[in-house]
Amino acid sequence: MTSTEHRSKIAIYFSATVVAGLATFVFYKFFANPIADHYFEGLWRIPWLILLSAFIYFTVRVLNALLFDFLFRLRRGYEAPTLIRNIFTLLAFTLFFVLIFNRVYHEVNLGALFTTSAIFGVIIGLALQDTLGNFFAGISLHADRPFQVGDVVVVTSNKLTGVVESITWRAIKIRTFQNHIVLVSNSLAAREAIEVSPRDNLNARLVFFSTIYTDSPAKTIHIVREAVRDAANVSDKITPIVRIRQLGDSSIDWEIKYWLDDYAKYNDTDALVRQRVWYALRRSGLTFAFPTRTVYLERAVPSRPVTPEDQISDRLSAVDIFSPLSPDELRQLAKATAGHVFAPGETLIRAGDEGSSMFVVHNGRVAVQISDRSGPRTVAELTEGSFFGEMALFTGEPRTANVVALEETEVLEIGHTAMKHIFHTNPSLAESISWTIAERQAALAQNSASAQASIQETAGLLSSIKRFFGLR
Ligand code: CMP
Repeated sequence: MTSTEHRSKIAIYFSATVVAGLATFVFYKFFANPIADHYFEGLWRIPWLILLSAFIYFTVRVLNALLFDFLFRLRRGYEAPTLIRNIFTLLAFTLFFVLIFNRVYHEVNLGALFTTSAIFGVIIGLALQDTLGNFFAGISLHADRPFQVGDVVVVTSNKLTGVVESITWRAIKIRTFQNHIVLVSNSLAAREAIEVSPRDNLNARLVFFSTIYTDSPAKTIHIVREAVRDAANVSDKITPIVRIRQLGDSSIDWEIKYWLDDYAKYNDTDALVRQRVWYALRRSGLTFAFPTRTVYLERAVPSRPVTPEDQISDRLSAVDIFSPLSPDELRQLAKATAGHVFAPGETLIRAGDEGSSMFVVHNGRVAVQISDRSGPRTVAELTEGSFFGEMALFTGEPRTANVVALEETEVLEIGHTAMKHIFHTNPSLAESISWTIAERQAALAQNSASAQASIQETAGLLSSIKRFFGLR
């Protein structure tokens, strides 16, 4: 209920109470007078009963708030179900009302009125058949607690899927993934098979894909598992499983089983997992299978489009540390590089890993991040033409930071052998690289206390690079 609705409800309540109070006063003054006509003598008791009922209503609401908003939440740690609150309100109000009715109209025997009125009971019973059915089904749902607010449920008979938003005395309110509200009556819910994915449970999903027969299963498992495990909302408590589902007519059919932190977001996470699989397969030269033979013939086409060599040497020539290289050397270096495409959010380099290559950003943007107790912190953003990964390559130390793609990013990877060759023909290159490394080490040290120990002087760096690459 919105706050405006709340306010207007309170205003109506108080106005009705004031009117009943005034009416009681006026009626009492005129009709409780022994001189007045005895037919009207008891008339003042009507507004008086209304006034007392208003008072009971108020008391019951206060009791309800005390019991459920305060005590229940304190003891159980979650919100009391609406159904339980409504039943409490109904019973407490009826009890108090009968008590005050007996006091105001002590000559009327309410008990006899109800016990003798069998027809009245039958009429009420028939009229409220459905409502009572829902009501009792609601009570059994609450007693049984098969699902709670926030759980994802699938009503299997009509394939309805959504998140439980509330359970009232009449129905379960489900918010579908199209943001519609669907009400499933309690009696229907008690009869139907309902699949529940509890909010506080590690629920799993299956995502399928297919590769061609010539791709190695062991390589596919490794590549796909690593690509999926660090996607957002994929739980790190259980490692995803990648396994062969079947050996199909024209493909190896795979399934990825992964667990989610927040199951209600499984549509987005499935999509992200598929995206990660696409990028990972493309980078590693694995091929999606198509259900026709034509595609098998197409395998002769390189599985990942290679960035044209002249584009690569153009890019490398724009990188400042490579500017002393001749066009011929740049072409040679370009031949030895490999292009890779990463999805937004994918990790290109993990701190602590061993590294035997460096990268140049060809397209896109990456963030250099270090992690401390407060989580990952970005220390630099690198765009087209910047390079990274040189520290581990040139010093032989483990990777100093994580590097994460901020958008779809294509990088050029240069390995140890290619760099060694370039160093032999251009010894001055080692010096400019040692400057960059020293600067970056200083920036890292500023951002993290633990990196302090690993700062090296440029001269020291230079000699260790030379040693590492066997230069004089
Ligand atoms: P490496 O240690 O091999 O792997 C992580 C990379 O992040 C590192 O090499 C550098 O290339 C890069 N890096 C670390 N610190 C910085 C920084 N302060 N500015 C830019 N890049 C950095």
